[in-house]
Amino acid sequence: MIVLGFQDYRAQGQALAEALGCAYEEIAIHRFPDGESKVTLPRLAADESEIILCRSLDRPNAKLVELHLACATLRQQGVARLTLVAPYLCYMRQDIAFHPGEVVSQKIIGHWLGEMVDTLITVDPHLHRVHHLSEAVPNAQAIALTAAPLIADFLKQRPVPPLLFGPDAESQQWVQHIAELAGLDWAVAHKTRHSDRQVTIELPDVDVSGRRVVIVDDVASTGRTIANAARLLKQAGAELVKCFVTHPLFSENAEEILTNAFITHIWSSDAISHHSNVVSLAPLLAQAVHQSRENQGS
Ligand code: R5P
Repeated sequence: MIVLGFQDYRAQGQALAEALGCAYEEIAIHRFPDGESKVTLPRLAADESEIILCRSLDRPNAKLVELHLACATLRQQGVARLTLVAPYLCYMRQDIAFHPGEVVSQKIIGHWLGEMVDTLITVDPHLHRVHHLSEAVPNAQAIALTAAPLIADFLKQRPVPPLLFGPDAESQQWVQHIAELAGLDWAVAHKTRHSDRQVTIELPDVDVSGRRVVIVDDVASTGRTIANAARLLKQAGAELVKCFVTHPLFSENAEEILTNAFITHIWSSDAISHHSNVVSLAPLLAQAVHQSRENQGS
């Protein structure tokens, strides 16, 4: 077994290989001026039969094509078993057609990934109306892990126990789980999304005055959801507002938006590389790789 990583996710790929006790090699990507990708595989042992590809699928379009090219070539070379470790799984939010004609990208991308590999391992995928990853990726062994225990361990170490706060109903699954593991109070707000960059938040009837609050969400993209929640929490008397996101997508000027909303600390897992990363997913991912191999009888 060998881990094949990519330069843009090197630290996490190497950490996974180390946790698995196997070698790490890298797939080289060259982007041509016209936007096409050249994918170069490392030289592999002739009898290499099992490969773990490690790359998160944020900013996914080119990465999906590159993954497809790499997997197809590895299959041609005779690799029997391919596992993709993609802590952030893209295109999961479009799980229905909200308007006539809209493509349900979750199922199509999920199926495509399932054609590329035998096993897909991801972390806290955004499953809302769909409850099991196997519904989105029906054609491969699909494993959805949760970072909740690792995040709970991190938050338990705060000097003052914070109130965990979910900015919308969907976040309750993570916030409640983490709060229960860490023995912390929690509450969840109500969010209405008007457009990509416009959301309104209504706070629940919970006293936050004088509390240190950590807003917890699976994803921060534009940062508007967390920023709007933070402003309201400060207005309601919270002493400090911080945030923890599993997947720090941080599109555009998201960090500036969060900082302008009086958020003093931005923390994240290394599902996506960002300077806010404070929790490594490697032990969780390695355990899942071992488990999936045992289940397959390797
Ligand atoms: C959606 O329900 C997710 O859990 C996040 O709340 C959402 O993606 C955050 O987006 P943004 O940062 O753009 O407000």
